[in-house]
Amino acid sequence: MSSLALVTGASRGIGAATAVALQPHYRLLLGGRDASALEKQAAELRDARPWPVELTDFAALAEAAAGIDRLDVLVHSAGVAELGTVEEAPSDAWRRDYEVNVLAVVELTRLLLPALRAARGHVVVINSGAGMNAKAGWGPYAASKFAARAFADTLRLEEEPHGVRVTSVFPGRTATEMQEAVTAAEGTEYRPEEYLRPESVAAAVLGAVTATPDAHPTEVVVRPRRR
Ligand SMILES: NC(=O)c1ccc[n+]([C@@H]2O[C@H](COP(=O)([O-])OP(=O)(O)OC[C@H]3O[C@@H](n4cnc5c(N)ncnc54)[C@H](OP(=O)(O)O)[C@@H]3O)[C@@H](O)[C@H]2O)c1
Repeated sequence: MSSLALVTGASRGIGAATAVALQPHYRLLLGGRDASALEKQAAELRDARPWPVELTDFAALAEAAAGIDRLDVLVHSAGVAELGTVEEAPSDAWRRDYEVNVLAVVELTRLLLPALRAARGHVVVINSGAGMNAKAGWGPYAASKFAARAFADTLRLEEEPHGVRVTSVFPGRTATEMQEAVTAAEGTEYRPEEYLRPESVAAAVLGAVTATPDAHPTEVVVRPRRR
């Protein structure tokens, strides 16, 4: 098995679960900043290596991507969720959401396009329900996720002729550290039993990247099932 997948945000949450779901099918590069979490995660997987890099440091990103000349799957799961109303959110909140959720996604994809084309590969962008519907108090995050959706749509139009598939996955609330922080910021209770499990989002990613070659799963929406 020589197919290679790179998953950003693989140190925890949805990215970590995605790495686990992909491991039977791919060799893995695990993106993140927490080197010890990545080492631990890699040790638990069959054929995985840490790929530690600060995604907003484009010089470091170019260096980290330099050795990759063939890539079957690129999953952008790394993300941040700075919330706040237009009245109150500082410009830094908008900037941080854009830097990680949009600009880093664009730059890493750009750097890896030759490798993705070489493998007729697949790019998965973990978006959000907030990338489909804006919500009061969520402006910085929603705007970044709307932009990430437009990026994925553009990339699909441009790269499908080169054999590259592009899928946006739109999860609802998922039980991760990000959701814990989001509920704390909203002043609501964290109720993991009501949210998606990260493994459920990972299953949607696996379904997309293992789709039959004639199929192009363009968008996958996953909501928590009402119980
Ligand atoms: N949780 C939800 O309810 C939910 C719902 C819809 C969509 N999403 C989306 O799903 C994706 C994953 O979210 P999650 O809930 O799994 O988040 P999480 O548990 O907070 O994990 C975020 C991951 O992103 C990495 N990361 C953040 N900033 C980074 C940077 N500057 N450079 C490198 N890595 C960085 C973190 O790595 P380190 O810790 O190693 O720095 C971590 O692995 C995000 O795009 C998020 O917007 C989440």
